[in-house]
Amino acid sequence: MGTKIASARISESSSELLQKLNNSLPFDKVLYEEDITGSRAHAYMLSQQGIISEDDFQQIDNGLKEILSDIESGDFTLDGDDEDIHMAIEGELTRRIGDAGKRLHTARSRNDQVALDFRLFVLTNNKIIAKLILENINTLIVLAKKHAQTLLPGMTHLQHAQPINFGFHMMAYASMFKRDYERFMSSYERNNLSPVGCAALAGTPHPIDRNTTAKKLGFSSPTLNCLDTVSDRDFALEILFNISTLMMHLSRLSEELILWSTAEFKWITLSDKHATGSSIMPQKKNPDIPELLRAKTGRANGNLIALLTVMKGLPLAYNKDMQEDKEGVFDSVRTATLSLQVLEEMIADMTVNVEEMEKACMIGHLSATDLADYLVKEQNLPFRDAYHITGDAVNLAEKKGLDISELSLSDLQSIDERIDEGVIALLDNRASMNARVSEGGTATVRTLEQVESLRGWIREQM
Ligand code: ARG
Repeated sequence: MGTKIASARISESSSELLQKLNNSLPFDKVLYEEDITGSRAHAYMLSQQGIISEDDFQQIDNGLKEILSDIESGDFTLDGDDEDIHMAIEGELTRRIGDAGKRLHTARSRNDQVALDFRLFVLTNNKIIAKLILENINTLIVLAKKHAQTLLPGMTHLQHAQPINFGFHMMAYASMFKRDYERFMSSYERNNLSPVGCAALAGTPHPIDRNTTAKKLGFSSPTLNCLDTVSDRDFALEILFNISTLMMHLSRLSEELILWSTAEFKWITLSDKHATGSSIMPQKKNPDIPELLRAKTGRANGNLIALLTVMKGLPLAYNKDMQEDKEGVFDSVRTATLSLQVLEEMIADMTVNVEEMEKACMIGHLSATDLADYLVKEQNLPFRDAYHITGDAVNLAEKKGLDISELSLSDLQSIDERIDEGVIALLDNRASMNARVSEGGTATVRTLEQVESLRGWIREQM
């Protein structure tokens, strides 16, 4: 039998089943620090405005500080039958300091309180995740610089297409992560507004100063409209979307690592730290870690869809439906944080098998486009004609069991006599890679330029 449901109007004790469904304390207790920080700022503002006495403020402030340290030391645990973290802390404060504790809830509601606590949690984690992304970008650019000369087949449709360098490939992921970083940071900036003082939905008749609390809590300003503020969970949806997109990028990189570590590719070797064995096949080394990172995208997407669905069609302002906003966000944040930490370690520790990558470049006539480009640039042929001549050269190479770069000048001239010896150097895979010097291209000089550009950008974020 519980009696902890917040009400002056409900006389009967609530049923245990109601409490089980209704109580959020089992999961929102992780917001204790945000809740206490918010309450201290609110109490400070109330005293500044003369709404509570300086003495009451001191008692409240000291009481809250003690509760915080007791929670952290384990002397006070949040496992009672309180409805939520807000009731648990306010209740404990009043038990400890008496009447002054009862003044804390002046000019506020749990509606602006939960909007604050959850927003602080989300804002903090936007920054934590952004920082982890930056560390991953850093690891990727170190690798990119080291391998700006390492050839591998660039692919489309998972078929060998044109020679690129491994650094260029890593810079593609670094570029994705840069956008991810920017998304987390822009969500932070956009949502860094204080909900404190919105009270239940309409504001309050007490002479509060929302700027005082906003400033004390590090917000750029108070929100504009209270009705919106207590029912807004866009900030939570944003971090869920940001995480989904990040995890989608992580899953693509993971997929490539899985593929590259197969016997068919052998382009990379994951360190033993990041692979597991099989319980029955003693010879096996499985890429469980990138597989799990690839799979974690599923739950991130689920959490995003769940909250979008909860919010859809909700009338203004607060509805209890919104209590369902938290667990998915906690889960996605935990997932993203751990995934980024693991990814960084795995990338830093893996071995890049340069020889295997370069060997793979001899499969698939990667420099075929260079022959066509040569015929257009040097022999002034229309591209479509050049394309067909090149097709004939590929067929000849196939027939001879060679790569197009291994055909002799006379082989090539047997297809079209306009081809001269200048073409031989162009068909070399490294030359082909280095020929792609257009901005953002794969040529080693361009890859290194991309590395330097991101390095400079990282410095600006510090
Ligand atoms: N536990 C609630 C939540 O997480 C706090 C707000 C409750 N407000 C209310 N009026 N019932 O959403």
